[in-house]
Amino acid sequence: MRAAITVLPGDGIGPEVVAQATRVLAAVGERWGHVFTLREALIGGAAIDQTGTALPPETLAVARETDAVLLGAVGGPKWDDPRAKVRPEQGLLAIRKGLGLFANLRPVAVNGKLLHASPLRPERLAGVDLLVVRELTGGIYFGDKLRDADKASDSCTYTVTEVERIVRTAARIARGRRKKLCSVDKANVLETSRLWRETTERVMKQEFSDVALSHMLVDACAMQLIRKPADFDVIVTENMFGDILTDEASMLAGSMGMLPSASLGEGKSGLYEPIHGSAPDIMGKGIANPYATILSVALLLRHSLGLETEAAAVERAVDAAVDRGVFPVDIAPSGVSPASTGAAGDAVVAALRQ
Ligand code: IPM
Ligand code: MG
Repeated sequence: MRAAITVLPGDGIGPEVVAQATRVLAAVGERWGHVFTLREALIGGAAIDQTGTALPPETLAVARETDAVLLGAVGGPKWDDPRAKVRPEQGLLAIRKGLGLFANLRPVAVNGKLLHASPLRPERLAGVDLLVVRELTGGIYFGDKLRDADKASDSCTYTVTEVERIVRTAARIARGRRKKLCSVDKANVLETSRLWRETTERVMKQEFSDVALSHMLVDACAMQLIRKPADFDVIVTENMFGDILTDEASMLAGSMGMLPSASLGEGKSGLYEPIHGSAPDIMGKGIANPYATILSVALLLRHSLGLETEAAAVERAVDAAVDRGVFPVDIAPSGVSPASTGAAGDAVVAALRQ
């Protein structure tokens, strides 16, 4: 097939991990005879430096023309002034909103060779295979913000339509898995959560009676993710809860450096990025873990291009690299010398060519 992909390297380690991910994409193209055209554009701090805004209109235009978007990371100390009017993160939020990508899929699976990298005891990690479906374009992230000298507020709003569509996305996915959906909210305190819970109940009863629904308060969920992570199948939750819970859940997999994500809307197009940030402390050293971004390429192949065989092959190639002991610094056992970003990319490309 022929497909066009927008590539947004961004800031910090973004360009380093994206470089490995595009090598993997090229290797997939070679092996299966696809032509992937890459169109690079600016986002985040890099875009602020060159254009004064975190999401230049040209970037959004290119993203709308292509079949999918691959993104590295945004942000860094250079743009961190809390009083700054433009911030790199605005670019990420604006592209998610601009492309209508309301569903953020964050799968968490545990590779048996990475048990050492998790702070949890190995027996707790057995059988962990969960997916967090995070609502991405609503809630407190996008509500009105007010700031006075001695007061500030961020408002959190959800509409029934916003809740319905994310619940449907999550329930459809749960149907193809273990048919368990856990909706996470704070309905004992928040009005938005009460609307969320009611709407979820109704949609599930009317349209997904074959999927088992449970509700959990977000604080309890934070605890259960550590206590009994294998009990979860699909979690659906609002924007900020999903942000926080997925950083926590990444420690099940051993490192943020292992977790990919897909952000989807109503159509086929989507945005694919690792869940980690720009890690300015290690940028330019060639030691960042590229696996999360490479696994995001697998999600891109699956969800936007419909290339399931190729997607599964990329996932197996990452597993093969890890099985061979190619461990970047964040997942290297003590005493084992860590693989560079490039060496990890090499290992995945080599596994793909086999
Ligand atoms: C994420 C990040 C972003 C978010 C930041 C960088 C705005 O933490 O993708 O999880 O909060 O959504
Ligand atoms: Mg986050």
